[in-house]
Amino acid sequence: MLSDQVNEELLHAAGDRLKVIASFSVGTDHVERDALKKRNIRLGYTPTCLTDAVADITIMLILMAQRRGGEAMAKVINGDWSKMPWHPLLMVGPQIRGSTVGFLGFGRIAQASLQRLLPFGIRRAIYLTSKPGQPVREDHFGLIKSAAIPIEPAKSADELASESDVVIVGCALTPSTKHMVGADFFNKMKKLAVVVNIARGPVIDTDALVKALDEGQIFGAGLDVIENEPNIQADHPILQQPRCVLVPHIGSATIETREQMATESVKNLLAGLTGEAMVNELEL
Ligand code: DGY
Repeated sequence: MLSDQVNEELLHAAGDRLKVIASFSVGTDHVERDALKKRNIRLGYTPTCLTDAVADITIMLILMAQRRGGEAMAKVINGDWSKMPWHPLLMVGPQIRGSTVGFLGFGRIAQASLQRLLPFGIRRAIYLTSKPGQPVREDHFGLIKSAAIPIEPAKSADELASESDVVIVGCALTPSTKHMVGADFFNKMKKLAVVVNIARGPVIDTDALVKALDEGQIFGAGLDVIENEPNIQADHPILQQPRCVLVPHIGSATIETREQMATESVKNLLAGLTGEAMVNELEL
């Protein structure tokens, strides 16, 4: 599982007979790849079957952040609705139509999220990959070729931050993406912009996010992941932020997807034992 550290300690405890690890996840930042490589241990993972589920939840989080879903529900649950009679500016937030959407990381899940966003009438999409300013290598759904809106590489994180109305964090966690969305990034964001993280918590500096929300530097946030998850206690500062929606890493949690992830993980394990091709193997 993505919550298990596959490191020297685990591999040492497993011993010489270990041939294969099958990670029940698309992300593999919990696996020390070099440690596997030097022992000739193969690594399977599930990068394709959860694309739809995670892209769906990306849209949920964008709408929750823009339309203040968490804050609005809390008001009803706390019995405050009667204290806030309907009026034209009650609980207003920015609209998705006309937004420029910025993708930090533009892999399969990000592109599937864009595919879902197009019918909402977004104006433009920009993306930043490890090669800033360069077109992404894989156009997974043929969107870049065919979309009626511009889909362009951003030259820098600054450009992505300052031009986006919605920032979607969908990149892998690596030493260079850790805290990439921090104080500097938030300083450059628009006041009505929202940030959504469906990747890995540490890509966003949580303290900086709390400050950005506190000081109204950004409008809101939608998080499926957060630093130090799952150890988020009720008094965590992020939970004091009404404009932040946080759900407990449920991106891939549809019944169909989890069944498929389980099936593929078992197939990957068996292939690792028999020396056959895996459903998806990560080159180490
Ligand atoms: C994964 O599988 O790595 C993702 O975090 C699912 O949301």
